[in-house]
Amino acid sequence: MLRAFGATALVAGAASLAACATTSPQRPWSPRTPLRIPELIDASAGPIRLEAAPGRTELRPGTTTETWGVNGAFLGPTLRLRTGDPVELEVRNALPETTTMHWHGMHVPAEFDGGPHQPIAPGETWRPSWTVRNRAATLWYHPHTHGSTAMHVFHGVAGMIIVDDADADSRGLPAEYGVDDLPCILIDRTIGDDGSMPFDTEPNFGQMGDEVLVNGTLGAYADLARTRVRLRLLNASNARRYLLELEDGREMDLIAADEGLLAAPQRLRRVALGPAERAEVVIEGAPGERLRLVSRAGVERIDGDELAILELRIRPDAAPAPAPMPTQLGGPPPLAPAPGATARSFRLQGHDSINDAVMDLARIDEVIPAGALEIWTIENTVYAHNFHIHGCEFTILDRDGAPPEPWEGGRKDTVHLPERSRVRLAVQFGDDVDPRHPFMYHCHILRHEDAGMMGQFVVVEPGTEAATPRTLAEAGHHG
Ligand code: C2O
Ligand code: CU
Ligand code: CU
Repeated sequence: MLRAFGATALVAGAASLAACATTSPQRPWSPRTPLRIPELIDASAGPIRLEAAPGRTELRPGTTTETWGVNGAFLGPTLRLRTGDPVELEVRNALPETTTMHWHGMHVPAEFDGGPHQPIAPGETWRPSWTVRNRAATLWYHPHTHGSTAMHVFHGVAGMIIVDDADADSRGLPAEYGVDDLPCILIDRTIGDDGSMPFDTEPNFGQMGDEVLVNGTLGAYADLARTRVRLRLLNASNARRYLLELEDGREMDLIAADEGLLAAPQRLRRVALGPAERAEVVIEGAPGERLRLVSRAGVERIDGDELAILELRIRPDAAPAPAPMPTQLGGPPPLAPAPGATARSFRLQGHDSINDAVMDLARIDEVIPAGALEIWTIENTVYAHNFHIHGCEFTILDRDGAPPEPWEGGRKDTVHLPERSRVRLAVQFGDDVDPRHPFMYHCHILRHEDAGMMGQFVVVEPGTEAATPRTLAEAGHHG
């Protein structure tokens, strides 16, 4: 039986002291509930209607928890989009307070990004639309209301987005939703025996639950009719990072990172997944086998616990995979900025600032020429953080001067920063110009984001950077 050794895994170094807190004792884990599979909504069927509303959910069997959800009481449907297709959405806010809906990892015009500048008041409906430009990928949606993102996501407003394209379709990967292509939205929560779910259980990082739910299922198992299964892993946790392994140590094929398929599968035993990151893996078992997905304890406060997550039960009569795993996946090579590419630096400080500044909704921190390929250096001066950039995709150039591991070579939009570390990113920005609607960059540990560890940039016509207003009020005048 897998148990928690969380507290003993904490590093005693001085830098960890600020982050130190007691870990709640964990419960024995037994997989007793079939994995919930979120409803699938296909964008080709017309406008997608989403409604965020409060509800009640049976998270711990036999109890009820007050939750929020999208088109349901907890979490939301999976949206299926296709590269090149138009998508129209109607997002209605039936919550008791203002929220927003952000399409994490989607390349959308800034005015439809769903960040803090696109609030949806209670009772209102917001109608964003765009043409899908992402390659095949696993993305997600969640609120981004400045100061209350952590609370809205914590209550359950989040869902997965799957983008398909013709090239990915041709690769022969498991692709039948809910059958051999499983959405796995990982969140950690502490849920009392009475169903209560306390918010912000850790003084620095915020929500750090003592159990993991997959698609809202506690103690989840999946019954599988095929021996080869693809897991779309999405870390929708407020703060926790997972070090995912199969309990028996068998290897998996990593096939996709945040922004889509890799060039080729990477065989590995462990997938590290910080808040907001995604990874797709393919797992191969034998008929009748039971495999357990677990998270191993790391050395940081946000990954210091050992947790069981999901049991994969392969039916005795499961169908074997029709063909060997593809050796090529068609993903793009790492980004390679030209010599002399624009370089910018960001220092993460404490729990609430970047480059000595706390987030200010009226301040434009950076102005980026459309289509730029830049080098961004992120330096973490304290305990664990991460860094997410809207409206772009990036690859990792190096970590503390060393090239990234092969499994970190895919296209990403969110990167983990261990305490006191530095990462250099090659960042590819999009072509849409809009000097009046900013994109965000921030730590995706939601409490830090809410506290102000966030900045804003606009993407403008190349050559107009110097003339671009640095405050939004000013931008309004000129517009
Ligand atoms: Cu997942 Cu700025 O967000
Ligand atoms: Cu985002
Ligand atoms: Cu942080």
